[in-house]
Amino acid sequence: MLVAIAFAVAAGLGGFFIGRATKSTKTVAAAATTPASTTVDPHVAAGAHDFVNFACAQCHGLDGKGHVSNFVPALKAFSTLTAAQLSDIINHGRGESANPTHPYMPVWGQVISSTQVNDLVAYIHAGLPKVPTATPVDVPSGQGAAVEGQALYTLYGCVNCHGPNGLGGVPNPQSPDKTIPPLSGADFFKQFNTDAKIIDVIKSGSVIGKAPIVSMPHWGGIIPADRLNALVAYIKTLKTG
Ligand code: HEC
Ligand code: HEC
Repeated sequence: MLVAIAFAVAAGLGGFFIGRATKSTKTVAAAATTPASTTVDPHVAAGAHDFVNFACAQCHGLDGKGHVSNFVPALKAFSTLTAAQLSDIINHGRGESANPTHPYMPVWGQVISSTQVNDLVAYIHAGLPKVPTATPVDVPSGQGAAVEGQALYTLYGCVNCHGPNGLGGVPNPQSPDKTIPPLSGADFFKQFNTDAKIIDVIKSGSVIGKAPIVSMPHWGGIIPADRLNALVAYIKTLKTG
C-alpha cells in the first residue's frame, strides 16, 4: 500500500517537472521568434491596448473584425472616417434609442480621455494591427463562477465605468446621480435584490439620457447567459454595506 502511494507521488512530481520543462522551452522558443527590433508606434500601441481595455474588442471583435453580433459592425471598413468623425462617434456614440432592444455604441466621452480617444483613432487609422500583449484577459474556468466573473468584469470593461470592486464614483456630471453608480453597497443590493434583476439590467442596458450623459450599455446578445451568471456571482461577493 505504502509503496503504491510513494509511486503515485513520484509519478505526480515527475509529471509536474515535465510540465514545467515543456513550459519553459515554449517560452524560450516564443522569445526567439520575436525580433528584438520590433517596435510599434506608441500611439497605435496605446490605442490597441485601449481597444482591449475598454472592451471595444468584445463588441467589435478582436482587431475590429466583427462576428460578435449582427448589430455591431466590423471596424476595418470604417478607417476612411476622418479623425474628427471617429472621435465624435467614440465620445458621443451614435444616438441610442430610449429603450434599446439591441446593442448600441456606448457614450465614452466622460470615461475615456481625449489622449486615449486620439490613440484609438491612430490605431483604427493604422488598420487595427495586431500589437503584442494587447490581448483580452484570460477567463479562468473550473475555479467557480465568482472567479470567472471577476475576470469578466475586466474583460467586458465594466471596471472602467463602475470602478474597481464595483465601488463606482466615475463622474457622469450631467446624469441625475452625477456619477456612474456603484455595484456594491446597501442601496445597490436593496434595489437589485435578485440575480434576475441584475441580469436584466446588464442585458437591456439603461438609457438615462443623450450624450454626453453616459448610460448603461446593452449587453444582450454580446455576453452569453453563463457569463451573465458568473458576473452576478462576482458582484455578489462585493461589499454589501
Ligand atoms: C456594447 C457594445 C459596443 C462597445 C463596447 C463598443 N461599441 Fe462601437 N459600436 C457598437 C455598435 C452597435 C455600433 C453601430 C452604431 C450603433 O448602432 O450605435 C458601433 C459603432 C462604432 C463605430 C462607427 C461605425 C459606424 O459607422 O457605425 C466606431 C468607430 C466604433 N463603434 C468604435 C468603438 C470603439 C473605439 C470602442 C471602444 C472604446 C467601441 N466602439 C465600443 C457597439 C459597441
Ligand atoms: C460606458 C459605461 C458603462 C459600462 C462599460 C458598464 N456600465 Fe453598467 N451602468 C452604467 C451606468 C451609467 C449605469 C446607470 C444607469 C441608470 O442609472 O439607469 C449603469 C448601471 C448598471 C447596473 C444597475 C445599477 C444601478 O444602480 O442602476 C448594473 C448591475 C450594471 N450597470 C452592471 C454592469 C456590468 C456587469 C458591466 C460590464 C458587463 C457594466 N455595467 C458596464 C455605465 C456602464
